[in-house]
Amino acid sequence: MPNAKGEEGGDIAEKLLSMSKRRGFFWPSFEIYGGVAGFYDYGPLGTIFRNNISGVWRRLFRAEGFYEIDTPTVNPEVVFRSSGHLDFFTDFLVDCEKCHESFRADHIVDIGGEPATLETISARIASGDARCPRCGSRSFSSPRPFNLMFQTHIGPSGNKPGYLRPETAQGIFMSFQQLNRFFREKLPFGAIQTGRGYRNEISPRQGLVRLRELNMLEAELFVDPEQKHWRGFDSIRREKLSLVPRGGKPVRVEIGKAVADGIIGSEVLAYFMHLTMKLMTEVGIDPARSRFRQHEKDEMAHYSRETWDFEAELSSGWLELGGIADRGDYDLAAHIKGSSADLTFFRRSSEERTERRMTVRANRSKLGPVYKALAGEIASAIERLPADEAAGKDHVSVKAGGSEHSIGKEFFSVAEVEEKVKGDKFVPHVIEPSLGLDRIFYSALEHSFTSAGGYTVLRLPGPVAPIKAGVFPMTSEQGLRDAAASIEGKMLAAGMEPYYDETGSIGRRYARMDEVGTPYCITVDNTTLDEETVTIRERDTRRQVRTPLDDVVNSLARLLSGERLDRVGVLTEAAEEEKGENEAE
Ligand code: GLY
Repeated sequence: MPNAKGEEGGDIAEKLLSMSKRRGFFWPSFEIYGGVAGFYDYGPLGTIFRNNISGVWRRLFRAEGFYEIDTPTVNPEVVFRSSGHLDFFTDFLVDCEKCHESFRADHIVDIGGEPATLETISARIASGDARCPRCGSRSFSSPRPFNLMFQTHIGPSGNKPGYLRPETAQGIFMSFQQLNRFFREKLPFGAIQTGRGYRNEISPRQGLVRLRELNMLEAELFVDPEQKHWRGFDSIRREKLSLVPRGGKPVRVEIGKAVADGIIGSEVLAYFMHLTMKLMTEVGIDPARSRFRQHEKDEMAHYSRETWDFEAELSSGWLELGGIADRGDYDLAAHIKGSSADLTFFRRSSEERTERRMTVRANRSKLGPVYKALAGEIASAIERLPADEAAGKDHVSVKAGGSEHSIGKEFFSVAEVEEKVKGDKFVPHVIEPSLGLDRIFYSALEHSFTSAGGYTVLRLPGPVAPIKAGVFPMTSEQGLRDAAASIEGKMLAAGMEPYYDETGSIGRRYARMDEVGTPYCITVDNTTLDEETVTIRERDTRRQVRTPLDDVVNSLARLLSGERLDRVGVLTEAAEEEKGENEAE
């Protein structure tokens, strides 16, 4: 029986995978060699649909003043040592001692509401609660931390470790100084980045929703923590969000109230939760099956002070599609410590004050003769050292010319300097809306999927649908085919994806388009040649209008922007459409 949303029972996930493979959305990678868990290919329609989703994301964040950047996916080890990923980006791994399969420990034991620490997981496994999902054995190795990053080597020597980035965010932090200059040293400013992140998941078995190579949509917003009011907040404070705050009691609440009551920690965090909801709705996620769930304290990533996951309800249960996190000054402070670079922001003020501080000075006239071409680089590195790393020391260690140098005390001195300054320095805080593009893609398909009597309609919003209109000549008569081909050409030129189809009955052609979410179909018939009109059929209502041929691409653009069908033409009596299964081709 179809349920309230017009879906039939049965496995939506299975039906979607079957449709996706057949119609070119996605399929498991490397299938001719048996496949590898956690890797999926995007097909022709899937790639367009995914690009359309990231297009909406890009537009919404650009409208908030963010600029997009693109940084390497391979990073040197030092980046992840400083960021904490080397130490903390881990899951607990256990092996079945009978069949030797590896599992994520928290996937085979139920630890209830307890923190997922090594101790609690070990205790559960030791008490015999866990059974191997593969062979049923209760005998497991001790759980051990497993770092999820993929390691590689940079260069041929094999001794310069690198890692594939687990998040695109670090590339934005690496670019902080350049971005600060680009934004003319005015906070707040933000950058977005999309691209692959890599996570060597222990045992991914959930299709597109747990990938080892995932597509991320990340935004890092740098803010002054003293700025409490967020521009634009007043325009959304009366809007409502569905929240599951820490502790678990769901509420649907006005955003202004959620912040005033301290449910959400800041206006800026709440603002970007609202923007995330807007994005999700525009790309086809059902708001009635969505919520923000706050992370419990022990659940948060090592860098976070407050995180709200955006979750969508799927056939398999609630799934996290991304998180809106307050990363505080964690990342920039960690990279200041790791690199000694100045990743602070200078807050100007009109009052001048005198600042005394200890600084390290390089003795350039002595460095020159000894270190020759490297002397300048060594001097700069010395002068970047924090004073307490050099005061009273016989040697300091600095990097120059690609290697470490131990520099004796005759080459530097530590002294107090007095400076007149107008302002103060601080480390900006970071608000991060980080979203999983693959999960958004998959969830939008599930939420748009309707099926009754074996007939599938994917109700994707027109602006993100991979194909904007099917273009059909009613018969194979050359005049009709030429007119349809000309519409196809005009749509391509206007950046609207067409799908020309002249095979099978019109009903079959509509069915093919309904199945992949095409919002409109344009049919050229004999009246087109006589009267220069075509029909446009709307997917969700199955209504049709007759509209002038020479204006059809413009009419389509208006429809995709939300115009009503009867405003672009004259409603016609639609011919009875064939019913039947659109899958059985
Ligand atoms: N940058 C957030 C994450 O990796 O989940």
